[in-house]
Amino acid sequence: MKKSDLSQPSRRGRLATAVAMAMAGLQGHTNPTISKAGRLPMSLKRAPREALAMAMRGDSPGDEEGAKRRDFSKGRWSLEGKTALVTGGTRGIGRAVVEELASLGAMAYTCSRNAGELTASLEEWAEKGLRVSGSVCDISSYEQRVELMERATSALGGKLDILVNNAGTNVRKATTDFTPDDVSLVMATNFEAPFHLSQLAHPHLSTSPGGTIVFVSSVAGLVALCSGSLASASKAALNQLTRNLACEWAPHGVRVNAVAPWYTRTSLVEKVLEDAVFTKLIVDRIPLHRIAEPADVAAVVAFLCLPAAAYITGQVVAIDGGMTVNGFYPRSD
Ligand SMILES: NC(=O)c1ccc[n+]([C@@H]2O[C@H](COP(=O)([O-])OP(=O)(O)OC[C@H]3O[C@@H](n4cnc5c(N)ncnc54)[C@H](OP(=O)(O)O)[C@@H]3O)[C@@H](O)[C@H]2O)c1
Repeated sequence: MKKSDLSQPSRRGRLATAVAMAMAGLQGHTNPTISKAGRLPMSLKRAPREALAMAMRGDSPGDEEGAKRRDFSKGRWSLEGKTALVTGGTRGIGRAVVEELASLGAMAYTCSRNAGELTASLEEWAEKGLRVSGSVCDISSYEQRVELMERATSALGGKLDILVNNAGTNVRKATTDFTPDDVSLVMATNFEAPFHLSQLAHPHLSTSPGGTIVFVSSVAGLVALCSGSLASASKAALNQLTRNLACEWAPHGVRVNAVAPWYTRTSLVEKVLEDAVFTKLIVDRIPLHRIAEPADVAAVVAFLCLPAAAYITGQVVAIDGGMTVNGFYPRSD
C-alpha cells in the first residue's frame, strides 16, 4: 500500500465513520463509540439527512472533494439563477410546468389570452413565494409574439435560458370537415407560434450558458389517434423541428427536446374524459392504466431543462404510461 493511501482512511472506513457520525448527529467530531471495524452501535438511531446523504456518497464531513461533489450535484438538479418563458401557463400542463420550474429556483414568465385568469394565477404564485410574472398574449398572432418576447426578456432581466413552447389547441373533426380557418388556427397556434418563438428566443438562448427549448408535442404526432389529423400533423411537425433545431443549434450551445403526452387531465380534454366509456377505452390501452396528471408531464419538462440533462438533445419523450409501446397487451382491470 502506498504511503499516501495510509494517510487517508479507506473509502469503506470513511463510509462507516460518516454513517456513524450521521446517525449520532456528531458532524465534524470523532465519535468514540465507533469500533475500529467501523461497526455502529445499535443505540444510534437518528441521522441528520445531509450527513446521511454524505455517508451514502462516501464523503466525510471535512472532505474537500466531497464538498465539491455536493456543490456540483446541487447545481445539476437546480434551476437557481435561470430564467424561463412558458407559454400558456394559466391552466393544465403549462401551469404545472411554471410551478415546477419556479419551485426548482427559476424565475418564470408566462402568458395566456384571458387577463382575469392570468392575474389570478400570478397572485396565487406570489402568495406561494414563486417568482412568476406574465402578460396577456395570443400566441397565434405574429405581432403579439414579438411583443411577448420583448416583455418576457425585459421582465427576466434581459436574459432567457429556457423556452417551453406549451400552449396549443385542437379542433376535433373528420378530415373532410376541416375549414381553411380551422387549418389556420391550429397551425398558427401549434406550429407557427413555437417555430417563431424559438427564432425570437435564439439570440438569448445562444448566449445563455445552458440555453434550452422544450416543445410540448403529443403522442398524436407519433402514432395515429382518433383525435384529429390536423393537430396530429402540427405535432408531428414539432417533433421534426425538435430534431432539426437540436442539430442546427447544438454548435450554439442550445439543447432542444420535446415531450409527447397522451391524455392528460386538463381543460383541453375534460369534455372527452366526461365520456366514461371512451375514457375506459383509453385507460385500457395504457400499461400504467391511468390518465396522466399535468404534474407527470411537468416533471419531465423540468428534467429536460436541468443541467442534469446536459447531454440530451433532439429527443421526443413520450409521457404516455407506455401507450405507444403497447402492441397488444389489453388491460381491463
Ligand atoms: N391535455 C392533453 O391530453 C394533451 C395531450 C397531448 C398534448 N397536449 C398538449 O399540451 C399543451 C397544453 O395543453 P393543456 O392540455 O394543458 O391545455 P389547456 O388546459 O387548454 O391549457 C392551455 C393553456 O394555454 C393557453 N393558451 C391556449 N391557446 C393560447 C393562445 N393562442 N395564446 C396564448 N395562450 C394560449 C390557455 O390559456 P387561454 O385559453 O386563456 O389563452 C391555457 O393557459 C398543448 O400544446 C396540447 O396540445 C395536451
